Amino acid sequence: MVADSSWSPSMSAPESVSRRLVQHHKAMIGFLFGFFLVVGLYSTVSGQFGSTNTIAVLQSAPTAEHSDKNTTASSPGASMSSPPASAPKNSTQGAVHDVDNGQNVDATKKTGDQRLQDNVHGSDSINNKTSANFTVNLDNLQANRTDKSGQTVNTASDKQEEEIIRQELDLDGDTNERNTRHGAPRKPICDLSDPRYDVCDMSGDARAIGGPNRTVLYISGDAAGAEEGHEWAIRDQSRKHLEYINTVAVKSLSAAQAQAQSAPECTSRHAVPAVVFAMNGLTSNPWHDFSDVLIPLFITARGFDGGVQFLVTDIQPWFLDKYRLILANLSRHDIVDLDKESGSVRCHPRVIVGLRSHRDLGIDPARFPAGNKNYTMLDFRMYIRELFSLPPASVDIPYKEQSAAAAAEKQRKKPRLMLINRGRNRKFVNLPEIAAAAEAAGFETVVVEPRRDLKLEEFSRVVDSCDVLMGAHGAGLTNFFFLRTGAVMLQVVPWGHMERPSMEFYGVPAKEMRLRDVEYSITAEESTLYEKYGKDHPAVRDPESIHRQGWQLGMRYYWLEQDIRLNVTRFAPTLHQVLRTIRG
Ligand SMILES: *[C@@H]1O[C@H](CO)[C@@H](O)[C@H](O)[C@H]1NC(C)=O
Ligand SMILES: *[C@@H]1O[C@H](CO)[C@@H](O)[C@H](O)[C@H]1NC(C)=O
Ligand SMILES: *[C@@H]1O[C@H](CO)[C@@H](O)[C@H](O)[C@H]1NC(C)=O
Ligand SMILES: *[C@@H]1O[C@H](CO)[C@@H](O)[C@H](O)[C@H]1NC(C)=O
Ligand SMILES: *[C@@H]1O[C@H](CO)[C@@H](O)[C@H](O)[C@H]1NC(C)=O
Ligand SMILES: *[C@@H]1O[C@H](CO)[C@@H](O)[C@H](O)[C@H]1NC(C)=O
Ligand SMILES: *[C@@H]1O[C@H](CO)[C@@H](O)[C@H](O)[C@H]1NC(C)=O
Ligand SMILES: *[C@@H]1O[C@H](CO)[C@@H](O)[C@H](O)[C@H]1NC(C)=O
Ligand SMILES: *[C@@H]1O[C@H](CO)[C@@H](O)[C@H](O)[C@H]1NC(C)=O
Repeated sequence: MVADSSWSPSMSAPESVSRRLVQHHKAMIGFLFGFFLVVGLYSTVSGQFGSTNTIAVLQSAPTAEHSDKNTTASSPGASMSSPPASAPKNSTQGAVHDVDNGQNVDATKKTGDQRLQDNVHGSDSINNKTSANFTVNLDNLQANRTDKSGQTVNTASDKQEEEIIRQELDLDGDTNERNTRHGAPRKPICDLSDPRYDVCDMSGDARAIGGPNRTVLYISGDAAGAEEGHEWAIRDQSRKHLEYINTVAVKSLSAAQAQAQSAPECTSRHAVPAVVFAMNGLTSNPWHDFSDVLIPLFITARGFDGGVQFLVTDIQPWFLDKYRLILANLSRHDIVDLDKESGSVRCHPRVIVGLRSHRDLGIDPARFPAGNKNYTMLDFRMYIRELFSLPPASVDIPYKEQSAAAAAEKQRKKPRLMLINRGRNRKFVNLPEIAAAAEAAGFETVVVEPRRDLKLEEFSRVVDSCDVLMGAHGAGLTNFFFLRTGAVMLQVVPWGHMERPSMEFYGVPAKEMRLRDVEYSITAEESTLYEKYGKDHPAVRDPESIHRQGWQLGMRYYWLEQDIRLNVTRFAPTLHQVLRTIRG
């Protein structure tokens, strides 16, 4: 390989700190939050998460695994969205997000659209991006605290969680110009113009050099290439500003330069295009798994119909395992751990470095290049369902699907509601009461305590068997990919003007995927902040004033600190509304 020091991706001090931090988190979180789904608690699940009145509790118990392998499985991001986050490798949970605008007009009846409108003005503070400060105080790593269960929790995981939240608060339109300064080459192989991602797309003589230096050479055949000698540092994921995504050096050389610099020769030649992307970052939080990697990978690579090879940097074994069905369909070729392939020079007819991304957990069909199929989020959900062998689009929601036959024998089942609880924050502290309220309203309830290392294949079938997926704003809701068309996502929006993120991260995608989107915004009294700080505290009385003081404070109170004590009396009409929708 060409040992040109200028090619090695530079890593600033903060970056390396962040990386160390992330690795540290992985270890800690993997250990502390490896959760297991235990079936039991209120009652046992009968048969196929059965019939009748059972409240099935899929509960998690901390795993006792300490091995490196197992710890890696849990990702850093996971910590934030407790439930989802906490689920390690083959975990089940999904997402993270939300808002409420202190007006608490009976929000329960509003559709997501209305709420979105309502919140446009009220949530500006959410968008007040104070300058990103990635500096991490290493001292925090030393300060452990003890959580309620008596487990020692390193505050580093909080930091990690903060980073995820910060990224999430950074709603679309990040205008950070960091990587757009490089001049504008005339025929660019690299496009640095998008606020979310950088991407280089090279056809011809492209050589991916394995090993720690992460370099892709592009040798332009023609003598007059405008970019010869250019070098780019590409963060090869869909978050170009995330410091702990290491960069890949992309260097363009003329044939003469390549010769003069003794550019490394191919050690292997491949007939298919390659996509180089990073698997670290905020992954392990299921929302980020999809928003940052899987959907961008779908956007970038689905058009190859499997005829593409993935060259992965910062490969994550848990990710490979958890999402193997998706990865194996997007590429029918072996996944290459590029960092480990020291000495290899892989030549592909086309190499794409980086992942295109349209928006948070979203796809904009208008942005596919001409001649490509313009996929939608609905296509994506159906694609995921197909890969997981779930019933096709023609099959109705479970309640309707079974009702014809069941009604005939007067065995009509109740609609099934999956109630996902979170692990660390935004928990339902009165979970049994909520489950009982759902039962009383006429649902069969499946309670999921996201702590278990459950196979996604298995869990996806449970989600598919439900008519309603209910949870507090958070990554657990990412399981909505496994719902059937017309099923309901019932999002409980925590206190603190969290409506906008709730809509943006879950409500909008749900609607795009033809799910029914229902939000229930809690009142201050339903937040544990109320009991903790009293009704006169600004965080309780005036969330706007909190948000005005910068994102950190809002994050602290509303994302990290509060839990939820649903007022089941107030919530009951929402349950009945959902029930009517399902029975429609
Ligand atoms: C990576 O780059 C550094 C500095 O550019 C160089 O010294 C080192 O030999 C390279 N490592 C490999 C494996 O090529
Ligand atoms: C990880 O967990 C699995 C079970 O989930 C266990 O068999 C294994 O010993 C653990 N360690 C490693 C390194 O996988
Ligand atoms: C980031 O925060 C640290 C400590 O809070 C501060 O010293 C530093 O100046 C900040 N950096 C930026 C770029 O705001
Ligand atoms: C924090 O926890 C880690 C891991 O359990 C431990 O190694 C470290 O000594 C603890 N630090 C403090 C200050 O307790
Ligand atoms: C991917 O899935 C689609 C169906 O969704 C199937 O037609 C295609 O053959 C699969 N490709 C691979 C490489 O498995
Ligand atoms: C997708 O492409 C088809 C045909 O090319 C077109 O009719 C349709 O309007 C496009 N949809 C979107 C959302 O761009
Ligand atoms: C979890 O993933 C590991 C590999 O990472 C696998 O060996 C194990 O069987 C999986 N466990 C479950 C419960 O899916
Ligand atoms: C954004 O936050 C900063 C610092 O918290 C504050 O000085 C500024 O006034 C805020 N801007 C808006 C529009 O709220
Ligand atoms: C619960 O909600 C009902 C109906 O909105 C209300 O009358 C009641 O005061 C609430 N209970 C509490 C404890 O806030």
